[in-house]
Amino acid sequence: MSERLEDIAQAMVADGKGILAADESSGTIKKRFDSIGVTSTEENRRDYREMLFRADEAMKSCISGVILYDETIRQKAVDGTPLADLIKAAGSIPGIKVDAGAKPMAGFPGEKVTEGLDGLRERLQEYHKLGARFAKWRAVIDIAEGTPTWGCIKANAHALARYAALCQENGIVPIVEPEVLMDGPVATHDADRCYQVTEWTLNTVFDELFEQRVLLEGMILKPNMIVAGKNASSQAGAEEVAEKTVRCLKSCVPAAVPGIAFLSGGQSDEEATQHLSLMNELGPLPWKLTFSYGRALQAAALQAWGGKPENVAAAQRAFTHRARMNGLAATGRWTA
Ligand code: 13P
Repeated sequence: MSERLEDIAQAMVADGKGILAADESSGTIKKRFDSIGVTSTEENRRDYREMLFRADEAMKSCISGVILYDETIRQKAVDGTPLADLIKAAGSIPGIKVDAGAKPMAGFPGEKVTEGLDGLRERLQEYHKLGARFAKWRAVIDIAEGTPTWGCIKANAHALARYAALCQENGIVPIVEPEVLMDGPVATHDADRCYQVTEWTLNTVFDELFEQRVLLEGMILKPNMIVAGKNASSQAGAEEVAEKTVRCLKSCVPAAVPGIAFLSGGQSDEEATQHLSLMNELGPLPWKLTFSYGRALQAAALQAWGGKPENVAAAQRAFTHRARMNGLAATGRWTA
């Protein structure tokens, strides 16, 4: 495969394909395992992820890349094959989460800034040797009373751009993920408020990417969709989500960016699929629109698996179904 950043980025958003986010940190995967009554041991985490990466049909036809966690990119399958090699054997690209998490931001009560720039160059060099050809860094922007603030948006956008520049220096395509969260507490957090904050955030991020000399052709944007907050008194319908998200992205994301791969952020599996498909129906669009889902690709498989080896085939079927539905949505061909 070509090692050019532009070619890797194009392959990540190939027609009808998207990204599997399997980069849950140890804390997050424990929460997911708790929900099915499975203890989060290193072996269980390996078995679960190996099962996903061995779901051949899904991996070969619908999954262009997989985002891994530090532990996972170093793990081997039961038969000794590195998990990253399983992904490559399916024609998919291994990627790696490189941020060190969103930490409380000094002087900004209730807001967070994502850390992890120290030593990042050396870590990227090691991950490249381990097979990673793209990376992910997630910033979180919270909507609440009086937030977000300009200081928080600016600091997160700057860190994203510094990360992206370091990735490209080391032959790795950065996924730039500024997530405006949908689980804020305020009732007035409707889709229009989400639009306003997302537009502000994306414009700031692209300013910073320009200032840090990031090659837009060699990156992927991973944004939230424009949805109402979970606790908002007014919820947006699917057509409204699709229309507002496409409008917001068109006004903020340069056409040089090859693709936009959404996070699911707490939407139900079907909503995440439907929204993506409706957006692609609004084309032609200047960039590919696809998925980079964690929960919306894995929730059904996790339930079906329940930690039992005898459920592996059923869990792989559940994962394959969601991957196929999202693959259809990535070209606007999904129907209920
Ligand atoms: P969700 O799709 O579950 O939001 O996860 C995607 C992701 O990678 C968040 O950083």
